[in-house]
Amino acid sequence: MRHEHVISAKQFTRADIEAVLDRAADFAANQQDVADAHEGALLATAFFEPSTRTKMSFEAAIKRLGGDVIDMGPVEFSSVSKGETLADTLRVIEGYADAIVLRHPMEGSATMATEYVDVPLLNAGDGAGQHPTQTLLDLFTIREEVGLDDLTIGIMGDLKYGRTVHSLAQALTNFDTAQHFISPESLRLPRSVRYDLHDQGAKVREHEDFEAILSELDVLYVTRIQRERFPDEDEYKAVSGQYQLDKEMILEHNEDLTVLHPLPRVDEVAPGIDSLPGAKYFEQAHNGVPVRMALLDMLL
Ligand code: NCD
Repeated sequence: MRHEHVISAKQFTRADIEAVLDRAADFAANQQDVADAHEGALLATAFFEPSTRTKMSFEAAIKRLGGDVIDMGPVEFSSVSKGETLADTLRVIEGYADAIVLRHPMEGSATMATEYVDVPLLNAGDGAGQHPTQTLLDLFTIREEVGLDDLTIGIMGDLKYGRTVHSLAQALTNFDTAQHFISPESLRLPRSVRYDLHDQGAKVREHEDFEAILSELDVLYVTRIQRERFPDEDEYKAVSGQYQLDKEMILEHNEDLTVLHPLPRVDEVAPGIDSLPGAKYFEQAHNGVPVRMALLDMLL
């Protein structure tokens, strides 16, 4: 990787992505062989928002590389609750660890944090901004299932507040991919992301209805409506429950569809889909470990 910090998927070139995914594939195939590659390395996790997959898979990744993790713990038990600024907290943590994983509710917080820390900083989600390490595991899964070139993907749900969507859409511009964005009008991609896609010559279409497009897709990437980011609960209620994929729809329109989801899901992917061969969201979550091992191996 050319960049010491991993802040946005916009910084990834095709070569960067392929290097991480290739190394991740090696790790996935030989997890036991690499157990002491980074003995003594310490990774700090600072999560100012809830997380299960991202935090635990980073922990698993550094431990499988022979290193260890130190965790800030819940925000309410940290010095943040005494009024410490994010900048001060991170300047302290960087003295304890070889790299920092940060998740914070404020968009732009990870970029801001790079002003203060010299160890590699990995953005594990900055509000509705970016989630670049999730994108790498999404790409790894897509590459394993159907390949990244000559791909037709639907990205559905909360395109406005969904940071995994913003990062994935940007990273896919490195490949020969047609992207169909499916959402209610009020949750369309932010203008800034649409501008970047346009600027990069991405093949993009937008839709409100999803059933009509299912038969054209290789992959459908479904996302949760990001309730916690809505300024007003009524606005959330107006759009919640509108996009619910079920097993019958897949069997009727496209039996070969690969269904992905960054998880957690609420009601947008019916549990009946889990038993279909194309349901790959749990594998996708598991791929977080080898992909984050690859990333840490290259940064540390
Ligand atoms: C996502 C996130 O935090 O943005 N979760 C994850 O990291 N797998 C998606 C979400 O919360 O909906």
